[in-house]
Amino acid sequence: MKLTFALLLAPIAAFAFGGWAVVTVDDLPEYVVTGRAVEIPFSVRQHGVTLLSNLTPRVTMRAGGSESVASVRAGSQPGHYIATWTAPRADYWSIRIHSGFRDSENSLLPLRVVAAGAPAPRSMPDVERGQKLFFAKGCVTCHMRGDAGVDGMKIGPELTGKRYVPDYVATFLDDPDSSPLSKATSTSARMPKLDLKQREIASLVAFLNSEGQVAGVHRQWR
Ligand code: HEC
Repeated sequence: MKLTFALLLAPIAAFAFGGWAVVTVDDLPEYVVTGRAVEIPFSVRQHGVTLLSNLTPRVTMRAGGSESVASVRAGSQPGHYIATWTAPRADYWSIRIHSGFRDSENSLLPLRVVAAGAPAPRSMPDVERGQKLFFAKGCVTCHMRGDAGVDGMKIGPELTGKRYVPDYVATFLDDPDSSPLSKATSTSARMPKLDLKQREIASLVAFLNSEGQVAGVHRQWR
């Protein structure tokens, strides 16, 4: 009896007491323009759940050997921050957000910067936007999907090759706790609510469903 209890507790303990956080970009621009200050708001949640205020995050951008630093200030809501950055030149800039909480950070897929006066780029296809969001929202901190998330904590199920019923997974991403999908897995960890917008959810679902076979999970939903 005692042993069973200990075994049950072990994964919960590992999940609950680790010093790690999920960095979520609240609003990800599709592209930015050189010489014009842009705000990139983000939030930091310990274990993906508890919003962490009073941190000193650092946000750095890199492209072709040069590095550029954004200024960061606290946002008006707890655990929210705003990075302000003026892109020095047109390129694809990699963004790294150090949360300031232990060594937890998020490395985003490159952000496109176009020269001032250049024509606006065409709007990104949903699948591509979804892939960018899969990094920017911090999904990669807990999930692997192909190459994405290999450096993460791997707390959530691997999503490589899985497909989902769109409406069903959209509801789940909006509010995981209210969805039976969250109870379908045997892990003690739970998928956090990351305050995603409907438009972001649509892109994430397009990305999640862009490859592979219908996952076993699909069958559990009936
Ligand atoms: C703090 C860690 C964490 C983060 C961040 C996270 N997830 Fe999860 N996710 C989980 C866990 C744990 C589960 C399994 C338990 C559950 O379903 O609640 C899960 C379940 C899922 C499932 C269902 C998987 C299946 O086949 O059963 C999908 C799809 C999913 N997450 C997508 C996402 C997406 C997209 C993001 C980013 C917007 C994200 N997750 C962010 C931890 C996380």
